[in-house]
Amino acid sequence: MALLSDVVAESRHVPSSHITAVVDRPDLGKVDHESGSGIPVIDLQHLDGPGRGRLVAAIGSACETDGFFMVTNHGIPEAVMEGMLRVAREFFHLPESERLKCCSDDPTQATRLSTSFNVPTADKTSNWRYVLRLHCYPLETFVDQWPSNPPEFRQAVGTYSAEARALAVRLLEAISESLGLERGHMVQAMGRQKQVMAVNYYPPCPQPELTYGLPGHRDCNAITILLQDGVSGLQVRRDGRWVAIDPVPGVLVVNVGDQLQVLSNDRYKSVSHRAVVNGESERISVPTFYCPSPDTVVAPAAALVDDHHGHPLAYRPFTYQEYDQEYWRTGLDSAGCLHRFRHIK
Ligand code: OGA
Ligand code: NI
Repeated sequence: MALLSDVVAESRHVPSSHITAVVDRPDLGKVDHESGSGIPVIDLQHLDGPGRGRLVAAIGSACETDGFFMVTNHGIPEAVMEGMLRVAREFFHLPESERLKCCSDDPTQATRLSTSFNVPTADKTSNWRYVLRLHCYPLETFVDQWPSNPPEFRQAVGTYSAEARALAVRLLEAISESLGLERGHMVQAMGRQKQVMAVNYYPPCPQPELTYGLPGHRDCNAITILLQDGVSGLQVRRDGRWVAIDPVPGVLVVNVGDQLQVLSNDRYKSVSHRAVVNGESERISVPTFYCPSPDTVVAPAAALVDDHHGHPLAYRPFTYQEYDQEYWRTGLDSAGCLHRFRHIK
């Protein structure tokens, strides 16, 4: 795997290590940028009040039909989101030698900086991005492993990650209720839970039509909360087309990951998405991946399995560790790896 070094990022051509095969290229002219992306925008202001029932239904419907939605009035202060994006930008603007102090490609490391989505052997083409991966929960366990430069990094990221966790839990409670389950079902089904943050940095690219920030994939975890700066790049697969989800200030993007598809027995869908790069601007995005802890046995909620009414058990039980390993071993694959965990009658 070729590391995206500063030398590569600043060159005028995309090197062969980063050139995607012709059939798999982004075809940027075909992407739908029409007014709004069509994914639902849900205002969470009254989630904890009398409007809860209606909002729970809206969240459930978004998970079922779209797999993606945007949230406003989500409770994370703007200053906290700005602080997160600021230290992310400062970190990636540090000299390469400083950043490399936390560089590792070992996926088992809790803190690592790398430039590709997967373990080197599974990767065919490298991506036009740097990514810093941080474990965030429990915070005390991991914060000492995070970069200490820039000096405000740990404070700003710690504050944001705690807010993102609180939002993930609120959403998972609403999602549980939307499926007719106990409010705490999804959070409990994730055992001790795991929270991982990716700090993605996509440098401007001289030939954006030849490569990806991140090619099409589904997220491995249960639910993702994405903070992005003001630069477009995220695209979602909808009705056989790629649709851009252009950033709206203060708004977060939420999506269903593979584990929620399993826990909901296929009611809610983990949808393919990707990040493209552009010739003008760097782009920063910060997804928070909320996951079961590695030893958790993941299985569809029993109440959602009904052999006689078209909802047979869809997946065999597995540990999240088993799924995670399979996911990273597979490499980016548009087919995903959910199908390998199907229940066989
Ligand atoms: C991811 C992801 C999208 C983006 O990191 O899994 O989908 O816009 N990122 O960076
Ligand atoms: Ni993703």
